[in-house]
Amino acid sequence: MNEINDSKPTKKTKGIILAGGTGTRLYPNTIVVSKQLLPVYDKPLIYYPLSVLLLARISDILVITTRQDQAAYKHLLGDGSKIGINIQYEIQDRPGGLAEAFILGEEFIGDDNVCLVLGDNVLYGDSLSRLLCNTKKKIERDGGAAIFGYPVKNPEAFGVVEFDKDTRIVKSIEEKPEEPKSNYAVPGLYFYDNRVVEIAKAVEPSARGEKEITSVNNAYLEKGELSVSLLGRGMTWFDTGTPKNMYKAGGFVKTVQEMQGYYISCIEEIAWRKGFIDDETLELRGRELGNTEYGQYILSLLEEKKK
Ligand code: DAU
Repeated sequence: MNEINDSKPTKKTKGIILAGGTGTRLYPNTIVVSKQLLPVYDKPLIYYPLSVLLLARISDILVITTRQDQAAYKHLLGDGSKIGINIQYEIQDRPGGLAEAFILGEEFIGDDNVCLVLGDNVLYGDSLSRLLCNTKKKIERDGGAAIFGYPVKNPEAFGVVEFDKDTRIVKSIEEKPEEPKSNYAVPGLYFYDNRVVEIAKAVEPSARGEKEITSVNNAYLEKGELSVSLLGRGMTWFDTGTPKNMYKAGGFVKTVQEMQGYYISCIEEIAWRKGFIDDETLELRGRELGNTEYGQYILSLLEEKKK
């Protein structure tokens, strides 16, 4: 699959990372520390969804957090200028649902399209960057919404894609169904055109009192404007919602990094490769991180380039 070369993109796409919530499923780890700041092996969890946006070449990003945690996120990521991007912040006072991201982010989104990524999702794999850039450009060109389906053994824990038996056409998306109609879960990564803000406003809260992202997806599906791409074996996805999954994700990152020598979700590397920062800035970032393996890895990228 080649990257779509669209000479007349009509819209720009901004990014939102939803990093609020109470994190109760990870207590006692998250009594004091926000879940998306916990380490997944060698870096904070939020680096992984941030990397997804960078890989999609999205450089205007809104980070939504709880009121008490905002200062820590600002301390970690600042205004984004250290990696050549623009990061803004918004507060969600109580977890009113994923679709609230578009209401809280209305002013930030303005007239643009938006990609929402959940702050606790880790996505890594072959051709991910191309897939993300192509999906973004498709929605910029054609409008509508794009989500993904990923095969899992426990679909009842997620949003699940229901297919028509014969045609494999998507019939609906169900949120945590007791009897899932497929094993394809919807990862926490969503691309929408600008209408998502109005669609989210119109969503009625579910029985658990949340504006569900699944309702937004079904609204696009009813209009015939929802694309669902199925991810295959070359892709790895973790929803780190439980201690076991946090541990599994950390083990995966450690193993891949040690075996391949490439880092997963090193935000400075991605910003550099995507042209958001130059060699000099990358070197500064590497030196700031001192004598850690992470800092050394950043510096080794410049050594490699010189060869
Ligand atoms: O991870 C993918 C799944 O994420 C999807 O398959 C489901 O359709 C979707 O509803 C969502 O399910 P979860 O059960 O994982 O959602 P959870 O309530 O855990 O929220 C996901 C993240 O978003 C979590 O890190 C906390 C944050 N969050 C959640 C809510 C409800 C917020 O920041 N604000 C919120 O209002």
